Amino acid sequence: MAKETLTVTDNRTGRTYELPVSDGTIRAMDLRQIKVGDDDFGLMSYDPAYKNTASTRSSITFIDGEKGVLWYRGYSIDELAENCTFLEVAYLLLFGELPNRDQLQVWEREITHHTLLHENMKGLYEDFRYDAHPMGMLISGVAALSTFYPEAKAVEDVENRLLQIKRLIAKMPTLAAYAYRFSMGFPINYPDNDLTYAGNFLNMMFKMVEPTYEPHPALQRALDVLFILHADHEQNAGTTAMRTVGSTLSDPYCAVSAAAAALYGPRHGGANEAVVRMLTEIGHVDEVPDYVERVKNGEFRLMGFGHRVYKNYDPRARIVKQVADDVFDVMGRNPLLDIALELERIALQDDYFVSRKLYPNVDFYSGIIYQAMGLPTSMFPVMFAIPRTVGWLAQWQELLEDPEEAIARPRQIYTGSQKRDYRPIDDRA
Ligand code: CMC
Repeated sequence: MAKETLTVTDNRTGRTYELPVSDGTIRAMDLRQIKVGDDDFGLMSYDPAYKNTASTRSSITFIDGEKGVLWYRGYSIDELAENCTFLEVAYLLLFGELPNRDQLQVWEREITHHTLLHENMKGLYEDFRYDAHPMGMLISGVAALSTFYPEAKAVEDVENRLLQIKRLIAKMPTLAAYAYRFSMGFPINYPDNDLTYAGNFLNMMFKMVEPTYEPHPALQRALDVLFILHADHEQNAGTTAMRTVGSTLSDPYCAVSAAAAALYGPRHGGANEAVVRMLTEIGHVDEVPDYVERVKNGEFRLMGFGHRVYKNYDPRARIVKQVADDVFDVMGRNPLLDIALELERIALQDDYFVSRKLYPNVDFYSGIIYQAMGLPTSMFPVMFAIPRTVGWLAQWQELLEDPEEAIARPRQIYTGSQKRDYRPIDDRA
């Protein structure tokens, strides 16, 4: 039988080493024994942007990027999106199994119970500039919550951790809706505990003077599906930020704030905002070929296209496209859809995109749906952060329970000067 090892010969010394291979991986620390002399630190691997480094073992989410497959805890994203509610999926991600009827009822009640924010949070939001980006407000708001729950610092206390997890899942939509309402100059809406998670979010966003808000069932369901699709995506930049900050034993509010900050960038969760800006700039289907040429000339990237892991169609993008139709039936067709469809059609025939395996990702169509729902562009990354909070928390919990857990602290290859003598200011060139 073949041995599960890797034999390495160091041509600098002629020595040979046998390294164990487990799960298709060698341990970077096993390289450390490979030295040219006693004072040598030992071999390291160099992997900027973690392109080929597994930073953890995880049982939460599985992606096969070549086949375009995504599972949460072994269930395919298609089945979950078709049959589950977002809170059901949140339970699955956090606890490993789908809840039974009783467990789901308790879970929904517990999340609903924590949706209110401390009244002082209003003061924080009121002090932002009138045109503050809602993602900046959300990132600040969630970090500020750590000051209201100082007991959250006890991250190694399992019960306390669970309480903070429930609070965070419950309060993220409220924080997000506050950011929107303040940016519009509208009074805030308090949560309505009779509504579902998605329905209550729509209530906090869009209720005006009517005594009670009745969310449209189709919009409520569409939002729930979008939340399911965005709930987790294994070790992406935001989750890596969550795990890195979590590994210092920082409290989960600060860690979620850091994860949300990582998500905000246009290469990550800010891409949905960038897509709609791009489609608006293109303006008309006739302009698409020119725009694609400019992308190929390297002027800019096609936003909502490409993925570090998926080298096939992003399965989430396929489901998002179906959700778009349901939303357009209620809200009317977003004219940007035609530009997006033409862009996809042309790009998928073009060797530049085909040879680089660049396909639409989840963000390509989600922004168009949010816009049709009446959300301003700046709210799109916020809409990503709400459900992704569940994934961040599941990954954070897994990290804290991992026996190999330790502070995240990569190495570097130093490229600066060797030791030199200090120069008084008058002697400097
Ligand atoms: N448009 C045009 N060319 C692209 C694009 C794009 N969107 N993405 C990658 N390429 C090209 C890139 O120029 C490179 O070409 P070459 O080999 O000639 O230099 C090649 O494809 C490989 O690109 P890369 O930068 O090495 O790929 P990466 O894995 O580092 O980047 C990415 C992944 C998602 C950051 C990138 O595809 C991108 O910038 N896409 C646009 C932003 C976007 O839609 N982000 C959302 C990601 S999905 C939601 C989420 O999980 O956050």
